[in-house]
Amino acid sequence: MTRPGLRRSGIRSSGNVLGLPAARWDSRFLRACRGESVDRPPVWLLRQAGRYMAHYRERRALGSFLDLCKDPDRASQVALFAREFLNVDAAILFSDILVVLAALGMPLDYRENEGPHLSRPLGSLGDVNALRPAGAAAADLGYVDEALRRTVANLPADIPCIGFSGAPFTLAAYAIEGGGSRQFARTKTFMYRETAAWDALMTRLVDVLILHLTAQVAAGAAALQIFDSWAGHVTAADHREFVQPHLRRLIVCLPAGVPVILYSGGGAHLLDLLADCGADVLGCDPTTDLRRAGDLGRGRFAVQGNLDPTLLLAPRPRLLAGADAVLAAAAGADGFIFNLGQGILKETDPELAKALVAHVQAAGRGMTGRA
Ligand code: CP3
Repeated sequence: MTRPGLRRSGIRSSGNVLGLPAARWDSRFLRACRGESVDRPPVWLLRQAGRYMAHYRERRALGSFLDLCKDPDRASQVALFAREFLNVDAAILFSDILVVLAALGMPLDYRENEGPHLSRPLGSLGDVNALRPAGAAAADLGYVDEALRRTVANLPADIPCIGFSGAPFTLAAYAIEGGGSRQFARTKTFMYRETAAWDALMTRLVDVLILHLTAQVAAGAAALQIFDSWAGHVTAADHREFVQPHLRRLIVCLPAGVPVILYSGGGAHLLDLLADCGADVLGCDPTTDLRRAGDLGRGRFAVQGNLDPTLLLAPRPRLLAGADAVLAAAAGADGFIFNLGQGILKETDPELAKALVAHVQAAGRGMTGRA
C-alpha cells in the first residue's frame, strides 16, 4: 500500500534513512505508524509516566518538576520504568511541552494543584519580539536530548521512543493566557486583534519547534508526537486561518523517515483540516469518531486513540468494554495504534492501567489485517 496523500517526503518511500536498528524499524509501533500490517495493534498510554505512579512520585519528591525534567538520569528512569511496568509498545520521552516557552525566556513554574504558571504572559508584538531567538532557545534544550539519549540507550531493541513537543497553537495559548484557561478569550482576542503579532508568535514557535524536534530525532526519537491539546477550542474557520498553516509548515520541515503524530484535543470538528496537515498519524481524543477518522485516513494516515481515560476510574468490566469498543471502531485496520484519548489521570490505579494494556494486547491479536 502506498500513501499518496502524504505531504511530507513520505515515511514509507524514504525508508530507514535514520539507520534505526532493524528490530526497532520493524517494531509493531513504527509499522502501524506507516500503515503496514501488524500481528496486533500496538498500544501505549498518553502521559504514561506521571503522578499516578509511586516510582514517579519518589523521583519527583527530590526537587521541583522542572528539576526532574532537567535531570537526564531521573527523567530517563521515569520514562523507562513506565514503559516496562505497563509493557507498552513504545516509550515516550519524559519532559514537558512548556520547557520550550521557558527556553524562549518566559518565567515558568508549576504550582501544586494549579498547574503551569507563566508569570509574564504575552500581550503585544513588542512582547513577542522580545522573546529569545529560536536558535538560542533550542540550544538551551540540550537536557531534553540527553534524557532522550539515555532512554533510547536502555530500551529493548524492538521498542521505539517517541519524542514530542507542544503544537504552536497550544503553546501560544499558554504564552498568552499565562496558564490554563476555560474559554481562551485572551488568546482569541490576541489572534483577532493583533494578527501581525499572532503570526510573529506562531512563526517564532514553529522555528524553535523545528529545531527542538529535529534535535530529538538526532538523539534517537523514532517518532514525534505534536500535542495540540487546546486545538478544539477554535472553530474550523479559525483553525484554517490561524492555526493550520503553521502546523503544516512545522510538519513539512521535520526530518524524513520519522512518523509525525498530530494529537488534537477536542478536535472532532476539525478532522478534515487535521487530515490535511501532512501528519502520518492523527491522534484522536475521546470525542472523535474513530471510524470516521479511520475512513478518512485509509491509505493516507494512521489513527491513534482514543479511550476516555476516566474509564480507568470505572469498574473493570466497564473499562474493558470501553477498550473493546475502541478496538471494534478501529475495525482491525492496519495503521491503528491503541491509546487513551487524553492523558492518564493522577487518581488511576497503576495495576488497572497495566491490566488495560494486557487486555488490549490479547484482544487485539488477530484483529488486524482486515482493513
Ligand atoms: O509519559 C509522559 O507522557 C510524561 C511526559 C509528559 C508530561 N507532560 C509530564 C508532566 C508529556 C508528554 C506532557 C505533555 C503535556 N504537558 C501536555 C500535552 C498532553 C495533554 O495532557 O494534553 C500539556 C497540555 C502539558 C502541560 C502541563 N504540564 C500541565 C497542564 C501540567 C499540570 C497538570 C498535569 O497534567 O499534571 C504539567 C505538569 C506535568 N507534565 C506533570 C508531568 C508528569 C506533573 C508535574 C508534577 O509532578 O507536579
